[in-house]
Amino acid sequence: MKGVILAGGLGSRLYPLTHATNKHLLPIYDKPMIYYPINTLVKAGITEVIVVTGGPHAGDFIRVLKNGKELGLRHLEYAYQEMEGGIAQALALCEDFADNGPIAVILGDNTTDADISASVADFRGGATVFLRHVSDPQRFGVPVFAEDNSQRIIAIEEKPAQPKSNFAVTGLYLYDHVVFEYIRRTKPSGRGELEITDVNNLYIESGTLNWVSLGGFWSDAGTFESLFRSSLYWAEKAGWDQNI
Ligand code: DAU
Repeated sequence: MKGVILAGGLGSRLYPLTHATNKHLLPIYDKPMIYYPINTLVKAGITEVIVVTGGPHAGDFIRVLKNGKELGLRHLEYAYQEMEGGIAQALALCEDFADNGPIAVILGDNTTDADISASVADFRGGATVFLRHVSDPQRFGVPVFAEDNSQRIIAIEEKPAQPKSNFAVTGLYLYDHVVFEYIRRTKPSGRGELEITDVNNLYIESGTLNWVSLGGFWSDAGTFESLFRSSLYWAEKAGWDQNI
């Protein structure tokens, strides 16, 4: 399986931090943010990766990642997203790279220490999303479960004011090549973006969306609070000595 890291957007929620570089190159404790999703892929045996970025600081990625070898990648390529047109628009740029094969997609601001190797090895097509119990579901894509105790997802709602479950659809996804067909079918949302949630809902409609629960730590890092929380977690995990 090949890997896709989506690291476009202007990161305007983090101004003034993102005036001088791209959000995904900001530090999470002792590493640039994008190292973490790369590491998640490498741990799962995925070493052929494309990074989609955009905005005025796209060139900074080459300075930091170079050809990816130091991070364990065998092949690293880049795509440039011209507008902030949404996660699904960024993913659409990876169709040639995917070459009709399955892909593991991670949002560049998601850090986790979960091991997704088993899901990657077991992937047989369709889509797999990774769910996480959260206390603030209204910030995320939220699954709606069938009422028959089957634990089947019947829809995903993007940032609902009244969430129908306490789970977040995290920014990790496994897709077969049909994803690009589904992206072509989506239309810009109210916030003017091609939503990955709309793509996932097309998989639900076709009965080919599976979900697994994501273990370990997981957080996005697109707000000051979540950026700080992520740094704190990774610092503690690395044995940060608060007395120094
Ligand atoms: O973190 C998980 C959540 O990520 C999911 O639960 C939501 O369903 C999903 O829509 C997304 O929500 P956010 O609103 O938090 O996504 P955000 O706009 O912050 O974008 C997350 C990453 O996606 C960002 O770090 C880079 C990439 N991205 C985003 C946009 C809008 C792109 O590459 N291009 C884009 O145009």
